[in-house]
Amino acid sequence: MSKVGLFYGTDTGNTERVADLIKQAMGADIVEVHDVATATAKDFAQYDKIILGQPTWYYGELQSSWDDFWAEFKDIDFSGKTVACFGLGDQADYSEYFLDAMGLMHDIAVENGATPAGYTSTEGFEFDESKAVTEDGEFFVGLGIDEDQQPELTDERVQNWVAQIKEEFEL
Ligand SMILES: Cc1cc2nc3c(=O)[nH]c(=O)nc-3n(C[C@H](O)[C@H](O)[C@H](O)COP(=O)(O)O)c2cc1C
Repeated sequence: MSKVGLFYGTDTGNTERVADLIKQAMGADIVEVHDVATATAKDFAQYDKIILGQPTWYYGELQSSWDDFWAEFKDIDFSGKTVACFGLGDQADYSEYFLDAMGLMHDIAVENGATPAGYTSTEGFEFDESKAVTEDGEFFVGLGIDEDQQPELTDERVQNWVAQIKEEFEL
């Protein structure tokens, strides 16, 4: 079976923990996890099923290692690849910028040819604005996780999402 490449960045460890939950839920033998702090564009080439994870920092900004990797990321050809994104944020304290970085990351993958996967309902979240929602506002363009306000929901959200993307990835 072809492997899934999971690429994440983190400042304070939450996204790394969620990456590990996703890996365990999908099957530790299927998912290969890469910290973007040490990744290169070449690492992406070996996968046709990819998961991208990023928290949003400082009022809608990219996480720092994703920021450093961004120029290289923008040049990656995602054609023929299916890409599912997840993002971490805080819907109460950063309600106008909730999960923005996930949206920015998703948009580049799609612009560069990716088939997107893993959209989820915005139901159950309260926020004012987000760059990570579809035009009708009904879906996030990936999995939204809020470890600051709703940590008790993380496990269930991950389990449901993994079941969904396993189908979309045809695993
Ligand atoms: C100073 C600061 C700025 C933040 N800015 C945002 C933001 O603009 N949008 C958002 O959704 N979350 C924001 N957050 C929440 C983080 O994304 C959240 O705590 C996340 O779980 C951190 O993930 P990490 O531990 O992987 O770095 C911010 C948190 C802090 C402390």
